[in-house]
Amino acid sequence: MQVLMAAFLVWSLMSPQGRGTEAWPTHTACRDGSLQVLYQSCDALQDFGFSVDQCPKQLKPNLNIRFGIILREDIEELFLDVALFSKGLSILNFSYPICEADLPKFSFCGRRKGEQIYYAGPINNPGFEIPEGEYQVLLELYTQDRSTVACANATLLCS
Ligand SMILES: *[C@@H]1O[C@H](CO)[C@@H](O)[C@H](O)[C@H]1NC(C)=O
Ligand SMILES: *[C@@H]1O[C@H](CO)[C@@H](O)[C@H](O)[C@H]1NC(C)=O
Repeated sequence: MQVLMAAFLVWSLMSPQGRGTEAWPTHTACRDGSLQVLYQSCDALQDFGFSVDQCPKQLKPNLNIRFGIILREDIEELFLDVALFSKGLSILNFSYPICEADLPKFSFCGRRKGEQIYYAGPINNPGFEIPEGEYQVLLELYTQDRSTVACANATLLCS
């Protein structure tokens, strides 16, 4: 997994910028017996690597994730917006602070534009059972001045 993620980062580093209208490839964040999570970068400028070590549909708290990206912005402060849809209907929106000036939750908080970050470790998430169905999720990571750091649209298939 480490090697794969490193290879992925090198590959995204080397990918030419300004890809025009071409979409980024679809990646699998995790696949378990009954749950599959696919995502695609919706940032015109870059792709990023993301995976979840295990994804049972009965989600456990403190999932271990891996995330790698090259920063387009300084991240003194970093926020995540999530919008969840099912069959085109909006179900849930939430915003979550990841790095705050006085409360940096992760080692990568405060890193600078141009740096490559790679995080492998737990995130503090609620544990719950995902109801069967197909969901669309829009995710955006952005900074204190509302500059996008990463953007993704994901499909979650739970059977
Ligand atoms: C992301 O959105 C595009 C455009 O709406 C869609 O074609 C694609 O299937 C989506 N990808 C995922 C992984 O949900
Ligand atoms: C989530 O945000 C979208 C766009 O801002 C809005 O249209 C939608 O009604 C919101 N949904 C909920 C459940 O608040």
